[in-house]
Amino acid sequence: MARGSLLASLLIAQLIILNCEGININEVPFTSVADAIPERAVCIDGSPAGYHHDLGFGDGVNNWIIYLMGGGWCNNYLTCQQRRKSPLGSTKNIKPTNFGGILSPNRGINPDFFNWNRVHVHYCDGSSFIGDTAVIHLGPHLQLRGSRIFRAITNELLEKGMKNAKNALLVGGSAGGLSAILNCDNFRANLGNVSRVKCVSDAGFFIRAKNVPYAGKRERRFNSVVRFHNLASFLPKLCTSRMRSGLCLFPENLVEDIQTPLFLINSVFDRVQITRNLKPRELRDIKGWKNCTKDLSKCTHPQRKLIKDFGKAFHETLMNIGDNPSRGLFIHACYAHTYMESNEFWNSSGSPKLGNKTISHAVGDWYFDRRVVKLIDTNTDFPFNCLAYD
Ligand SMILES: *[C@@H]1O[C@H](CO)[C@@H](O)[C@H](O)[C@H]1NC(C)=O
Ligand SMILES: *[C@@H]1O[C@H](CO)[C@@H](O)[C@H](O)[C@H]1NC(C)=O
Ligand SMILES: *[C@@H]1O[C@H](CO)[C@@H](O)[C@H](O)[C@H]1NC(C)=O
Repeated sequence: MARGSLLASLLIAQLIILNCEGININEVPFTSVADAIPERAVCIDGSPAGYHHDLGFGDGVNNWIIYLMGGGWCNNYLTCQQRRKSPLGSTKNIKPTNFGGILSPNRGINPDFFNWNRVHVHYCDGSSFIGDTAVIHLGPHLQLRGSRIFRAITNELLEKGMKNAKNALLVGGSAGGLSAILNCDNFRANLGNVSRVKCVSDAGFFIRAKNVPYAGKRERRFNSVVRFHNLASFLPKLCTSRMRSGLCLFPENLVEDIQTPLFLINSVFDRVQITRNLKPRELRDIKGWKNCTKDLSKCTHPQRKLIKDFGKAFHETLMNIGDNPSRGLFIHACYAHTYMESNEFWNSSGSPKLGNKTISHAVGDWYFDRRVVKLIDTNTDFPFNCLAYD
């Protein structure tokens, strides 16, 4: 008896150790781009770009979903240089990972895409997978090769079977969501034989909000990204011919020209935009802003008004871009940032819902043309927690 239970606990201990060593059937390995160095498809520190790819199975083997990871932008030598030692500028320490949300292999969580080829593209260029330059400096040189990374990874995946795909979807979150907009038509052009190609931008709709405080700061931030990464010639000509290139990272100036069906998921009170892009300039106000944006119940009256005004500006910006029958929308009012990689946000009992639909349900309906999906929360004037059981 005692011996049996000792054996059992040894076995359990061994299983736990195996798990700790990363032998986990759901873990997806990291793949470096094969020709990264000759193609210069490299991260800021010069390490090869890459991705995690979980193979499709069953009737999903010929379908592909490409998820572009986010992580803000760097906009000068110092901030780009700092990324060299982190995953946002290097692949030196990238581990296998587990996939959730739209990348989950679990049918209950991800009913429409669970058995597709699911690819998570690692973000390490600092400018939303566009640009192609290097910065030679007294300190370490910086490689800023976003467009080469996107092209090399797309080409490698085409060779791995994506060129014979039936269905394909380019998705991204945050800076990756902006990238999904910027690279959407280009992605479709590379998939000439694929019958259904669409794109989803998750929390990538960063607004200028010209009449809301700190607009100048928001403009200068994007302008400096465009300048430092030398992006002018990589941004859509339809935009750069109309206005200065620094404004062509704002999706409001891009979305109308996109030819490929595009779905926008965003909160009118996007947590990152509220927290960072409305942050006061004065040191004495910053602490109070931190308190408010961490816990909305601590916001003062003027802070609440600023947040409400931002939400109004978000709606106005969205209404000002022409509608397009192929566009899908899930524009809610809860307080978070990126919704597609988390099981809880994507499709759980507490998930954010509009018209009783989870984001998973809404995106699936739109992707497969089951119905028109234009869901917008126009009733809420102040953000709330996203998960019902929060
Ligand atoms: C922020 O919150 C802390 C802790 O609750 C409090 O001590 C501080 O006074 C607050 N600061 C402002 C400016 O509201
Ligand atoms: C996930 O989505 C499907 C279809 O939209 C739904 O039937 C299912 O109940 C959802 N799963 C959860 C955990 O809510
Ligand atoms: C959502 O579901 C609830 C309960 O099933 C129902 O009462 C309500 O009318 C539905 N709302 C919409 C917008 O469909």
